[in-house]
Amino acid sequence: MNILEQTKQDSKNKLVVVNHPREHIFSNEKIGISNYKKSMKKAIHAISNTLKDRKTPFTGKSIAVLREKFNKIQLEHFKETHSLEYVIEELKELYLDDCVHFHHPKYIAHLNCPILTPTLVAETFISSLNSSMDTWDQSTGGTFIELKLIEWTLDILGFPTEGDGIFTSGGTQSNMMGLLLARDFYIKNNYDIDPKMEGLPADASKFRVFCSDVSHFSLKKNLSLLGLGQNAVIPITVDADFKMDVKKLELAIEEQKQLGNIPIAIVGTAGTTDFGSIDPLPIISAIAKQNKLWFHVDAAYGGGLLISEKHKSKLRGIELADSATIDYHKTFYQPVSSSGFFMRDKSFIDYIKYHADYLNSKEQEEEGIPNMVKKSIQTTRRFDALKLWFTLRMIGVEGLSSYLEKAIESAQFTAQYLSERKDFEIIHQPEISAVVFRYTPYSGLDATYCNLNSHIRKAMFNEGKAIITSTKVKEEVFLKFTLLNPLTTTKDIEEVIDLIVFHGQQYSLKN
Ligand SMILES: Cc1ncc(COP(=O)(O)O)c(C=O)c1O
Repeated sequence: MNILEQTKQDSKNKLVVVNHPREHIFSNEKIGISNYKKSMKKAIHAISNTLKDRKTPFTGKSIAVLREKFNKIQLEHFKETHSLEYVIEELKELYLDDCVHFHHPKYIAHLNCPILTPTLVAETFISSLNSSMDTWDQSTGGTFIELKLIEWTLDILGFPTEGDGIFTSGGTQSNMMGLLLARDFYIKNNYDIDPKMEGLPADASKFRVFCSDVSHFSLKKNLSLLGLGQNAVIPITVDADFKMDVKKLELAIEEQKQLGNIPIAIVGTAGTTDFGSIDPLPIISAIAKQNKLWFHVDAAYGGGLLISEKHKSKLRGIELADSATIDYHKTFYQPVSSSGFFMRDKSFIDYIKYHADYLNSKEQEEEGIPNMVKKSIQTTRRFDALKLWFTLRMIGVEGLSSYLEKAIESAQFTAQYLSERKDFEIIHQPEISAVVFRYTPYSGLDATYCNLNSHIRKAMFNEGKAIITSTKVKEEVFLKFTLLNPLTTTKDIEEVIDLIVFHGQQYSLKN
């Protein structure tokens, strides 16, 4: 008898055979393999159709319309079963038809890159074989693939060979690891306390971390999660290019010391989320050294520059950091999630290392078994490294860097194009691929620009032909392009700007 067939009593107390859906278990059984092949083919077919059918990055459907579709699905319905064809057809209506397409050349809103097909092949291996990267006995060769890519990233960062790293779920988690090491490094060196065992000293409420006032919000969020509170962040004003003002940094460190607070770290951003601006890393490193502070670099956005011969000098100074964040799912064209955290000295791992007898015992470590869980704040962890592996093996470093270089050219074109127009105000020269500007058609009516530009962003999203975003600079609303798609042409950019003008004029007519 098929072991997955069981009997149960039906409502009339008759014994009936229940057939478990055996073909859906990923296995080496003929029925499992055949179902796997057929199903994957159908999924790829449906996705390909979605690509072919969609002409715009979004359909512009409202929240109300999309929510209504879900109102029809009752929790009771999860007791029913359906064919794959049915579920894909239903998904088409619920999600696929209106999904926002990051790969569309006119999607230039957030830091979402188009992704590379080799990474999707890798995703199939990752999710099908489902290795977990916490221990050697769950990942085997996968661990060595990840270790090789950690070695590669340490090399492009210019970190010493004694450095180490780990793939993480994203820049937020990588930044958290940087701040955690900074906190515990300070405690270990200044108190008779082992923070891993005893928690934080009473002084911890006075710890201060310095970063520019346009750095990523995850720093604040992480400091609150790490028990130091969001007030631990001392935001340093930026110069006209949105880079940390280092004079102000030095003053702020002194001021905090005089207030009785305790500086522990500086975070430099290599590619701010809004402007792509890169803080003066070599000077910040010198200030950190002089004040005996941890130096973390958040290169979540700018990390991709490291592999570009043309642009890597912009990140000079990152090699001096104690730790760094790199988001492969931004400027290395990887699918979410794929990110890394790197430290210049592998001994820092001791701050987070934990031995679980069932997973990575001390004995295993003594035997030299490479269990990655000791370096991670996650336990079960995806084999995200495989995507970067496929990318480098198939496209190579030069091919990969050419994509970001093209996006940077598009940003430079946009900045030039807008600066030549009288109806736009551009407030910086793009250092990477983000461009912040606003539509300013009427001189002397500055007060209306916030409403006008807010309206433009919303109207464009509701229309769906092109997606851009907005941000605030000194409380004023600005529009923002984040150009990452090498397939975005100058014609696309001109057409998006025409749409901005169109929606701006429509707003002006009505108001
Ligand atoms: C500079 C910077 N750091 C960190 C992050 C957070 O990265 P993630 O979204 O991968 O957690 C972002 C996200 O946009 C970012 O721009």
